[in-house]
Amino acid sequence: MKISRRAALKSSALAATAIALRGSHLFSQASTAVDAHIDILPGEPIGTISPEIYSHFIEHLGGVIYDGVWVGLNSKIANTNGIRQTFIDTMKAVQAPVLRWPGGCFADSYDWRDGLGAATKRPARAGFWEQQDSNAYGLHEFMHTCRAIGCKPYLAANMRSLPARDFYQEIEYCNAPARNVPSNSAAPAMPNALAAQRAANGDPEPFNVDLWGVGNESWGCGGNLVPEEYAAMFRRFTAWTPSYSSAPLRFVAVGPNGDDVDWTRRLFKSLFSNSERRHLFGLSVHYYTSGSPKEFAAGDALAFSNDDFYDLLTRASIMERVVTDHWAAIGNTAEPDQPKVKLVVDEWGAWYGKGTSLGPNYNLSQQSTMRDALLTGITLDIFQRHAEKVAVANVAQSINCIHSLMLAQEDNFTVTPTFHVFQMYLPHRGAQAIRAEFSAPAIRNPLANAPIPVGGNSYTGSLEAVKLLAGLSGSASISPTNPKLVTLTVVNPHIELPVTTEINVSGATISSYTGRVLAEPDIHAHNDFAHPNAVRPNAAATTTPAAGRLTHTFPPASVTTLQLTLA
Ligand code: AHR
Repeated sequence: MKISRRAALKSSALAATAIALRGSHLFSQASTAVDAHIDILPGEPIGTISPEIYSHFIEHLGGVIYDGVWVGLNSKIANTNGIRQTFIDTMKAVQAPVLRWPGGCFADSYDWRDGLGAATKRPARAGFWEQQDSNAYGLHEFMHTCRAIGCKPYLAANMRSLPARDFYQEIEYCNAPARNVPSNSAAPAMPNALAAQRAANGDPEPFNVDLWGVGNESWGCGGNLVPEEYAAMFRRFTAWTPSYSSAPLRFVAVGPNGDDVDWTRRLFKSLFSNSERRHLFGLSVHYYTSGSPKEFAAGDALAFSNDDFYDLLTRASIMERVVTDHWAAIGNTAEPDQPKVKLVVDEWGAWYGKGTSLGPNYNLSQQSTMRDALLTGITLDIFQRHAEKVAVANVAQSINCIHSLMLAQEDNFTVTPTFHVFQMYLPHRGAQAIRAEFSAPAIRNPLANAPIPVGGNSYTGSLEAVKLLAGLSGSASISPTNPKLVTLTVVNPHIELPVTTEINVSGATISSYTGRVLAEPDIHAHNDFAHPNAVRPNAAATTTPAAGRLTHTFPPASVTTLQLTLA
């Protein structure tokens, strides 16, 4: 992308006067040919970036399952076994590692047995979000979706309205082997009844589900519990579960409403008051970004001002605080041999008002613009910077919902700008995250003094924390297969100003680099059914490294991936 001279001059002027953040210190930045610096520090590894932080979520809600994922066996829309083909292909294109289902709030009203057997015999039932769910899409259809994509299933179990027995029988139904199970008593080996039922329903081979959410938002739709009540239920639900593999099941405990650290402290105090910590793999964290109450009320995914843009991205950056605060609240220590309870950020995204819904039956569907692409980059970079803490993260939700990668209505389909960011961040999967220091003039949030947003899953902390938006943010990693290849992803949130940046890899020489960039002149740019390719990434304009460093200009309101080859 070309940088205009006017914009470049403006950029330097900004650099001369603006305040920049480096670590915890504020300093005035003098005007130079470059506006910012990124120092990549390969000697400071953070951890392996779990491929599962790029995971997904689908729920029986509006047009997510019905129409979005499931078009039905007799549909004219291209499908594999009733599953929308473009959904499968798009999830493959981002190498989706994990898919979470059936909710969300839906999960705690859902009986997994309702979705088994012949579709014509399945009971239609009231669901959490809708008056009626046909149950045409059930456990087997979900597993077939995962198989078609090549991803792992993550099931959220009903804890509010089904007993613990149903939880372990669901595990048994999913995971018991098809062959006869040897008995450890004198009785002969025999088939497991639930495995036989699964086979009769078309799937003799076990689903091998290892990731289980034990309830969902139990402080709210999942039961209106207090942490101590939930802890007692969690212990009871997980005290015994059937096991068919040497690897333990990964249980995820319900975490806080947004940044409510008190929930997490009390939960872990209560959980650990009994010394048994069976299979507690992770703490679920839900954090949605909404603007000030004014924006949330009037909030529209497309109609927003520049001030709204900066405000939203500043509030999105609070994810970093959510991650570090909850990591500390769990009681995790820095000692390497101490077992850690990981963070599972299984719902995140920007949540707007109803203005851009695909239609009345597409509850919580919304458009997605360049603003959401930047939010995606900021969020994934936070997870990557905290690779040792965040093990799984699921964007909410994959299609026709809050922060979607896809929009679909009947035979119309488009990917959103968020899809492109997921693709651009693929080189970080499984890579070694390394520390990188960013110094760039920060942006003051023009709506920092607006009252704290109300509503669930959002930030309710101090106004102080939403005053400044990092002028550049990002993360760096070393390829798992090539120690000479460094991936650097960067978000420039400034709406008008390109940021010319000197990039240095400590102790190494950059010999060459390539890049891809997602940038549009208008921050409202988006794809729709008529214009599915209006927003898409391009090759980044590159320069030749000099003296082992490079100078790269990040265009305004952009997300960039650079791949640096070291000499
Ligand atoms: O993603 C929509 C809803 O947001 C989910 O059902 C719930 O878990 C959260 O409140």
